[in-house]
Formats: sequence, structure tokens, C-alpha cells
Amino acid sequence: MKILGINHVAIATGTLEESAHFWRDILRIHHRKREVIESEGVTVDIYDTGNGKVELMTEYGENSPITKFLEKRGPGIHHICLEVDNIVTAVEECQNKGIRLINEKPQRGAEGYFIVFIHPESTGGVLVELCQKS
Ligand code: CO
Repeated sequence: MKILGINHVAIATGTLEESAHFWRDILRIHHRKREVIESEGVTVDIYDTGNGKVELMTEYGENSPITKFLEKRGPGIHHICLEVDNIVTAVEECQNKGIRLINEKPQRGAEGYFIVFIHPESTGGVLVELCQKS
């Protein structure tokens, strides 16, 4: 697989508005859009530095994984996302090397990217997302 760069760092928060104060008002990073991803149970505020994004994530609907995350760890970094050239071959390569994936079939994430998640067990404790631009 070829890693093209860090696409975004995702931060879990209880409220997007409270977190926006720092990222939008103090750092003045461009707020590109807000997106609800029903399949993942999240609402995401996407801030774009022009060279890598910060995504603030909060819970959407019932059984959101963010609810569990916040209960367990409180607000903070949820995952980092690396962009790859080809997500299908990246998944195959991970599988062949015994890397534990959370989903093996790429799903649609924010901004239409194809995404998979790698289990923290295989990465040294960090939830890692791989994405490919659609
Ligand atoms: Co992400």
C-alpha cells in the first residue's frame, strides 16, 4: 500500500459548538462543512487547514460509538486517518500480514471517502482509519 499522507485527525467531543470555540475562533481554521454520517452514528464538523484536516465528532442517534467512547475516555483524540492510493489492496495487504481490521469491506465515510478501520490492538493502541478518495 502507498500512504499519501495524514488526511485527518478525529476528535470526539460532547458538543460541536463548545469545541468549535478553540478550532474555529482561536485557531481560525476554515470550517468546511458539517456532515451527518448515519451509518457510523456521528455528526462531524470538518476543519481544513489546507494541509490536513481536523474532524470534530459527536454522537448522532442511538447506539453511537461516540457515546461509548466519551463514557469510557472522555473527550479527546478518537482516531487518525491515513490516505492511501488504493484501499482494496491496502485491506488485502493488512489481511495477509495478520493486521486486525474492524471492517474489511470499505464503507462510505465523510466527504464520500471509502474507509476502513484498523483495530488498536494491531497499531500500538491507536484507532487508525485508512481512506481513499472516491
Ligand atoms: Co475519520
